[in-house]
This record gives sequence, C-alpha cells and structure tokens, in this order.
Amino acid sequence: MAEQQPSAIFLKDYTVPNFLIDKTELTFDLDETQTIVTSRLHLRRNPESKARTSPLELNGGEDVKLIGVAIDDYTLPKAEYAIKNDKLVITATPDEFVLTCETLIEPQNNTKLEGLYRSSSMFCTQCEAEGFRHITYYLDRPDVMSVFTTTIIADESRYPVMLSNGNEVARGKTEEGKTFVTWHDPFKKPAYLFALVAGNLEVLNDSFTTMSGRKVALQIFTEKHNIDKVDFAMDSLKRSMKWDEEVYGREYDLDIFMIVAVDDFNMGAMENKGLNIFNSSCLLASPETTTDDGYLRVEAVVAHEYFHNWSGNRVTCRDWFQLSLKEGFTVFRDQSFSADTHSDVVKRVEDVSFLKTAQFAEDASPMAHPIRPASFIEISNFYTLTIYEKGAEVVRMIHTLLGEEGFRKGSDLYFERHDGQAVTCDDFVNAMEAANGVDLSQFKRWYSQAGTPRLQVTDHYDEQAQTYHLTIDQMTPPTPNQPTKLALHVPVKVGLVGQNNQALSFTFDGQSTDEVVLHVNDTEQTYVFENVSETPVPSLLRGFSAPVKLDYAYSTEQLLQLMSGDPDGFNRWSASQQLAVNELNGFVLQFQQGETLSTDTRLVDGFKSLLADETLDPAMVALILSLPSQAYLSELADKIDPQAIKAAREHLRQLTAQALETEFKQVYESNAVTGDYQASAEQIAKRSLKNAALMYWVASGSAEAKSAVVCQYRNADNMTDQFAALSCIVHFELAEADELLNAFFEQWKHESLVVNKWLMLSAAREQDNGLEQIKQLMLHPNFDIKNPNKLRAVIGGLGQNVATFHNLDGSGYTFLADQIILMNKRNPQIASRLCTPLTRWQRMVPALAEKMKAELERIAREDLSKDVYEVVSKSLA
Ligand code: PHE
Ligand code: ZN
Repeated sequence: MAEQQPSAIFLKDYTVPNFLIDKTELTFDLDETQTIVTSRLHLRRNPESKARTSPLELNGGEDVKLIGVAIDDYTLPKAEYAIKNDKLVITATPDEFVLTCETLIEPQNNTKLEGLYRSSSMFCTQCEAEGFRHITYYLDRPDVMSVFTTTIIADESRYPVMLSNGNEVARGKTEEGKTFVTWHDPFKKPAYLFALVAGNLEVLNDSFTTMSGRKVALQIFTEKHNIDKVDFAMDSLKRSMKWDEEVYGREYDLDIFMIVAVDDFNMGAMENKGLNIFNSSCLLASPETTTDDGYLRVEAVVAHEYFHNWSGNRVTCRDWFQLSLKEGFTVFRDQSFSADTHSDVVKRVEDVSFLKTAQFAEDASPMAHPIRPASFIEISNFYTLTIYEKGAEVVRMIHTLLGEEGFRKGSDLYFERHDGQAVTCDDFVNAMEAANGVDLSQFKRWYSQAGTPRLQVTDHYDEQAQTYHLTIDQMTPPTPNQPTKLALHVPVKVGLVGQNNQALSFTFDGQSTDEVVLHVNDTEQTYVFENVSETPVPSLLRGFSAPVKLDYAYSTEQLLQLMSGDPDGFNRWSASQQLAVNELNGFVLQFQQGETLSTDTRLVDGFKSLLADETLDPAMVALILSLPSQAYLSELADKIDPQAIKAAREHLRQLTAQALETEFKQVYESNAVTGDYQASAEQIAKRSLKNAALMYWVASGSAEAKSAVVCQYRNADNMTDQFAALSCIVHFELAEADELLNAFFEQWKHESLVVNKWLMLSAAREQDNGLEQIKQLMLHPNFDIKNPNKLRAVIGGLGQNVATFHNLDGSGYTFLADQIILMNKRNPQIASRLCTPLTRWQRMVPALAEKMKAELERIAREDLSKDVYEVVSKSLA
C-alpha cells in the first residue's frame, strides 16, 4: 500500500477559484522525446473570491518538468516559487499579471494516455478530466474558462497536419526552418476541452450549411490507410448537426468542425471544442470490416460528441461533481437522435437492457454512487454507467414529467441563462422548473441518492364497483455512506390490458383515458382507476419510465398476454424478458440442486407465435430471441453462480432450437438481405433476426444448418454476417472452428479493429486450456498491451469465458489481478476499469467470492495509483 493514502475531495468543500485566466497563449515545440511547452497565462484575482491575498497555486503533474517561470517580464528566482505535491505555488503576485511558464514533457514515455502522448506516428492530447496539468501548470478546473491561442511548431515533413481548437490564424517558418501553425479559439473554455493533434494524416472534406445560412467546413482526419472508412461518420455528423437544429434549436458556432481518429485512446471519444478526438473504434466504419452494432456505435458517438458542443462546451460543468450535467443530458440527446433515426422501441429496449444489466449492477456494488457524487478520490473513476446512463434516465424522467414542449422550453431557458458559464445540476433543473412553473424539489433527490429504487406493486379489482386499485410501495436499499433513503418522485406510466388483449380505457382523476403517468412520491400510495370494465392485467412502467426495479407477481398467463397484447411495444418486450427470466431461474435452481433440467417450457409456444407473426419488427423478434444475458441474470441473482446461469441459458436455447428447428430454418431463409450493404434500420433488423435464427438453427444440431453457417461465413460480403457466422461456428465448436478462426485472422490481420474482434472471440472460446490460450493471445505479434482496445478485447473475451474466468481454482481471477497490477502504474485509468468484475465479489457464490476477495487483497498490497486504490479500497471496505 502506498505510504500516504490518497484522500477524497468533497462537493461540500467547493469554493470559487482565487484567480481567473482571461487568455491562455500556448506554444508547443513538438518533439517525440522532449516537447517544450511555453504558456502565457493572463491571470487576475477573482473578484468573487474571498481569499484576497492567497498564493497562486497551479496544478501540475509528476511528469511535467518546470524549466522557468516569470511574472510579467520578471524571471522568478527559485526562492520565489515552490513545487509542492505537484503544484506550482507562488506566494507573492500582483492582482493582474501575465505568468510565463516553460515546461518540458516526454510524449513518447506517456503510457497513461492523458496529457500529450503518441499514438502510432502522431501526437495527440487527452485533457478531460485532469489531463491538461500533465502538459503545463494551470488552473486545471472546469470553472476556469479562458480564450486559447495555440501555436504548434514541428517538422512539416513528418507532421504536415497540425491542429488545435478554433480557427487557423497564422502559419509560417521558424528560424530553424520548422513550420509553425497558430490556432485561435474565440470561445472561452476550460482546459479539459483543449486539444492538439499533429501527424501525417489524410482528410475527408465536406461542409454543412447551418440554419442561419453559415457554411461550416467539416473535416475528418485519419491515418492514410483508414481514410476510406469515414464516410459514414461524416454522414452521421451532418445528420446530427441538422437534428440538433431541429429538435433543440442549437446551431454550430465555429467556421470549422474537425474530428481525428486515433488508435490509442482510453475512452470512446472526446468533445474538445471544434476538434473532437475519437478512438478509431468509434469512428471508422466500412461494410466489410464493421458490424451493424459497430455502425450504430459510430453514429451514436459522433452525435454524442457533436451534441456536447452545446451540452458541455457552451455550457460546461462548475466542478467534476456535476459531470452528469453534461454527460446525462448528452446521452439522453444521443439516445433520442438514434431513436429518431432508427426504431424508437428497439433503441429503448437496447438502452434499458444495458442499464438494467450494467448500471443496476454498479448500483448494487461497493462503487455505488449518486449521479452527482458527494466525494471522490480520482475523478477518472467516475466516468461511470451511473453518471452516463442513469444520468440520462433522470433527464428522460424530466422529459416525461414536462412533455416534449415543456422540456424544450426548459432547455432553451437553460442554454439562454447559462451560455458561456460553468454551472451545476441544480441550475439545469431550476431552468426546467422556471420555464414550466413546476416544482421539482423532491425530484432533485435523484441527484443525491444512490441505489436502484424498488417498487412493490399489488392490486385489487372490484367487479361490482368497476374500480381497480394499484398500491405502490417504494424503497431504495442502502448504499455506501447512505444507510437510509428518502422517497423519490418516480413517474410510473401505466395502462391496462383486457382479457382479449385489448387496451382498456378507464377514468383516472376524473379524466377518461387509456394511459396515465402516476406520480409516485411517497413510501406507500394507492391509485384508483374507475370505470374499468373487466379484470385488467396492469401494464406497468411503460417505456421504462423510471430507472427502478418493479415487482409485481405476474402469472405466466398474464405475461404471455402482455407479450402479445400490450399496445406498448416496450412492455411487450419486457413481458417476454420476464417470462424468460422466470424459466431460466427455474433451470438455475435445478442445476444447483443437481437435478436434470426440466424440458417443458411455456416459452417455446410464445416463441413459436412470435416467429409466425410477420407483422412484427424483425429487430424486436431478434431481441426477444436473444434471451436474457449472462450478465443480466447475474445482476438479478441473490448469489451469482456463473456456471449454473450458463447451463440454464444453453439448456433453454437447446429446448427452443429442437422444438422449433423448422421455424428457425424458415426464418433464416426468408430474412436474407438483398442489395448493397446499408446501415439502415430495415437491413439491420433483418440481419439481426436472420443471424439470431441461424444461432438456434445450428443449436438444433441440424446438419443442414451446419453447412449453412459455414456457407454464410465463406460467402458473406459484410462483417455482420461474417462475424455472426464465425461466432456461431466457434460457440458450437463445429469441425471448422480452428480453420476458420485462423482464416479470419489471415484475412484481416492488417485491419487492427477486426483483429480486436478476433482477439475477443478467441479469448471467449471455451476450451479446457482456456487460460493458456489467453496467455498465448497476449504474446501474439498482433497483440499490443499499450493499446487499450486490444487489452479490452482480450480481457473482455476472458470475462465472457465463464469456464475460464470463473474457474473454481481461482486461476481466472489471479490472471486478471496480474494484469491489473501490471497496468496499475502504466495506465491507471485502464487498470482501474479492469477491476470492475472483482468489485462485485460479495454478490458471488461463497467459493468464488473468497477467491475474488483474496485477489483484491493481493492488489491492495501493491503501491497503487489513486485510480486503482480508490476502487480496491472501496471494494474491500
Ligand atoms: N467526455 C467524453 C464523452 O463522454 C468521455 C471522456 C472522458 C473521454 C474522459 C476521455 C476522457 O464524450
Ligand atoms: Zn460525453
């Protein structure tokens, strides 16, 4: 353990900055090993700060070497400044002055991928959240907003493209014959939105004319060999710009918008002002190399980063506790964009499945935190599903409460009030309240309370009176530092379904309707529905109107009824999922008790009618067929037994496959896509159903299916079909598995992103020597531990490899812990994320829980980065 343990910082301790920086002038003399950064900061005391004489304290990093510092033209002697805990401290300063600082950094040795670093042959930066301090000394906090002018000096033959935020304003030669380029960004911004890129890059040019008629130049940069894969991103960008104008009235503000793809990146992408930097996995797409899911991700991430220009950049966060202000809102915006572009129900099902699987698991873990945390040790650990996905659900609830128009009025007021400011989550909700004349004070508890609320629902129908009573209890379980919880304001959208699968109308609050949003805001409430003509089946939480766990004792008959008759498409899916969960949990129990798993299941009948119904959206049918995932069933379990869950899923798949072999064959054949590949909702839907059917058909053991899947692999003209076939071949260990895995690698070894898919699939392959196979992958010449995508591919594959990862001897966990220890210093952000499965140790069956805990304890004995320290110590607390 580190000698001095890192300490937490608290939201309640927030104070305004003592100094402000009106202008920031930077010069980068780029060099792979030794880059010199000169900054000129136009500083003045903050009139709003109470500390009138406090010293100036600028953030830095252990990797930044100070060469010299001057105030106005006076070079400070050593005695007049100090470096304490990575901070540059200057005790005596004028009230207004220019501070010049020269620092030296080593991009080549930067393995943490924050600050200025090298990726392939280029230079790039990553400054969110606190990366700028690894470039130079600065007031590295989001409420210090400044106008940046940046000059980049480099050897033009190797770095012909030199980019930073804003517009290019000057270019020329230095005395030594190097090239310089100066960029100026007229919009004030915090340092976390700063970016710089230099490299030998290709560009795709396009333009967009904004709603007020301004022409904006659009440029996407990649390394030469990838420039043929950015057309879809460009198209997504133009559609996002248009959508933000139409739906939010938001126009782009600079004359140029640039995106650069880099291979080595800790996260998905970054919204730097006018110069977004993307992990290439979230930008590049071509039919031959990218699956449908990959296309959808590119579209969503391009939109997300673009939307940040308003929700994040023009209006930014006061401090990092407010992270969800920009992320929750922006995720909500990108989800809405994708829903409008494709199918809204399908998109909602995908987003909710993800939330209920991964965010609910986080909420039930020692890392649980509110969407506005009260404290943290390392902010990088708080780019979580809670901040992003639950944050988006909270914004969505406001949307549900206010309606489309009211929400738009609120967002207009928010942007109008706070343009150019660094603000808080309260400011956002206050604008929503003010624009609509509503009181959201109880609703605000969603920002400060962690944990997934539970709603317990019971009902009673009175035939004589034709009334139907719904009683809802709410309770939020304790989470770390929050033993007791207050009642939340939960919007619950409800409808009633009759015995003949028809929507029942009713009277609620004196109004006749067939759907109502209940405002659940107390620990127990009863709602009365009048003029209900028959015993209804309640359709609860339509569209997943709140991020809660809802318990209602549905019978199998009722679920089957909702599955076919609920007018709410989302709840039809929800009912099917509940049915499958019930069946699977039964199998899990039988497996654990050593019984033979039963062969009778009502679900098969449900699936049969599903497959026969040609009016349904094939994408929805595919989603239902995909069965609740291993991860979702784990989240629901009291004590997670990975082998039992896996056996249950395989069993249900087998039963279904055998019972409906003919149907699957028929669905497979009738959903072939003709014509050129398109990432359209229609084609994606067909491919997803076709490939889901293929998986079952092969599972049935049919010889015809086996040759069909190999045939699909060999003839596929797109990655979706090729990879679906390969996954199926590997999953069922068909005779061709080895041969085709190798062929796949040989075909794609020059496409790094496809190699990642190969790494993942190979790592997930369940064989007796699983761990050995994973170690071999990490020694493979195409593996590169410095590349986060490659590491995530292998470790992600390991996580799916139930037999290997959850081996009872604990070897899977030991291996993971070894990787965490290896990455701890090299790339703390990645190391910390690798810890996630271990943080869930208390949820595992005792034999596995102990092994996981032992590994956490072993990690804890190392000299840990703040990132890993926080996650490991909280997990063991
Ligand atoms: N702000 C980025 C986004 O969500 C995510 C990010 C965080 C990227 C930190 C890099 C570092 O769009
Ligand atoms: Zn974001």
